[in-house]
Amino acid sequence: MAALLEMRAIAKYYGPVRANDGIDLDVRAGEIVGLLGENGSGKSTLMKVLFGIVPPDSGGIVFRGRELSGHRPREAMGAGIAMIHQHFMLIDAMTVLENVMLGWAEAGKVLRRGLIAQRVHEVSRRLGLDLDPHARVADLPLGRRQRIEILKAVLRNAELLILDEPTSNLAPGEVHDLLTILSRLRSEGRGIVFITHKLPEVLDVCDSVVVLRAGKASPKASVVGVSKSQLAEMMVGRDVAAPHILKKIDNQPLRLEARALTGAGLGPLDLELRGGEILGIAGVDGNGQFELAETLSGLRPAVSGSLRLDGRDIVRMSSARRTRVGLAYMPADRSATALVKSMSIAENLMLRDSRRRPYCRNGLLDQGATVEKANSLMAQFDIRARSADTKAGSLSGGNQQKIVIARELDRAPAVLVAHQPTWGLDPGATRFVLERIVALRDGGAAIVYISSELEEILAISDRIAVLSAGRFAGLVKREAVEKAQLGLWMSGRTA
Ligand SMILES: Nc1ncnc2c1ncn2[C@@H]1O[C@H](COP(=O)(O)OP(=O)(O)OP(=O)(O)O)[C@@H](O)[C@H]1O
Ligand SMILES: [Mg+2]
Repeated sequence: MAALLEMRAIAKYYGPVRANDGIDLDVRAGEIVGLLGENGSGKSTLMKVLFGIVPPDSGGIVFRGRELSGHRPREAMGAGIAMIHQHFMLIDAMTVLENVMLGWAEAGKVLRRGLIAQRVHEVSRRLGLDLDPHARVADLPLGRRQRIEILKAVLRNAELLILDEPTSNLAPGEVHDLLTILSRLRSEGRGIVFITHKLPEVLDVCDSVVVLRAGKASPKASVVGVSKSQLAEMMVGRDVAAPHILKKIDNQPLRLEARALTGAGLGPLDLELRGGEILGIAGVDGNGQFELAETLSGLRPAVSGSLRLDGRDIVRMSSARRTRVGLAYMPADRSATALVKSMSIAENLMLRDSRRRPYCRNGLLDQGATVEKANSLMAQFDIRARSADTKAGSLSGGNQQKIVIARELDRAPAVLVAHQPTWGLDPGATRFVLERIVALRDGGAAIVYISSELEEILAISDRIAVLSAGRFAGLVKREAVEKAQLGLWMSGRTA
């Protein structure tokens, strides 16, 4: 098939950081190219160059036979390139149709509203988007909102779609639907660049892969006949499948105890968690995971019930006080709620400790101690950045997440509440974080591990509960798990 996109020798440097160091990338019409690589290897940068968000230092782009240079996103879109953003650029209070028409020059003039509604219907049916043009965006789950972005791209005749980690915050069912939609786009002859850290998704839907390492690209390789561990090796040079790491220490004290804990959309829940134990909370997203995580961490008030940490009732404590009595929290939406992007890495690492010795003396932050600590955490957690002074917001997505993980784990908490801690992490970093959480457990902490990724839950949990409509539908020991039973609980049936 014809070459749709040719990127040649693309280079983009940020000071000494070679984000893109002479990258070639080709995409044919009707081809899905998986763009893989460790956190900070340059994937997002390459796509920002393509879409005209950042100018390259050198290199050339030819799209559908025409040179594309000095362009901005508007020109990229005009040429037929669309970028499906992770944080959707949609207006919640408006309908699907109104969002589609927004910022579209021809809409409302050349194209009448009724006509566009008709086309929304038609495209939605053809691609299986299942979108009602008159539904309000606010009422739609995340997966559907993403499909509006895809719909917009198709209505504007995009020939190449860029999806940067589109699956990292979707529920498994939504992921499956998205992959089906991508295959349909391919069969219409569109080209797709698909960035993901999830190797099964690559094997499922991609035709070929390009692996970036420290700003350099591997030659494009076909996915046919490649195994998951081969892919992982291509990415990080070793196999990183998570081992099953069950090791329960008995007779530990009760560390976290909830009795009839109830909040908006949550509970009543009972929970008993001993030191040395990981309780995995499985379930389809949207069944109270955020409510549970935020009620445990203190970001959301409980309506009734009790919550005890090492015997002390913390249910009325602020999240800051809970932190001081030994609770650590990794929220799912880390970059929005747990990180200050305009602050440096060092400052972000110290956020919780800024009033404690040795980082604070006479009310002032001790720069030396802070930087020393930051450097050590950056090395341990492989946080890739120029220095500890670098602003957190300029790091790659995965490296921003590592800051929060490093900070929370380093405090050696009594109880850790982790909500999707590995979202956006590459396979090597994922394994590392799982190992660190297990080490924390083996040191006597109690851990609540909330994730929609069943494989991860199975890999590290000692007990597994399923959250369904805000309540526990079942609770089993890891040894006694039957996947079919978990599936039933997850689907809301209690049989
Ligand atoms: N605006 C910026 N200023 C300074 N450095 C930057 C900027 N944007 C990216 N970088 C650096 O460029 C490198 C590549 O980042 P990029 O975001 O492309 O990685 P990525 O492959 O998308 O990683 P991830 O999987 O974590 O999303 C990183 O070292 C990052 O810190
Ligand atoms: Mg990225």
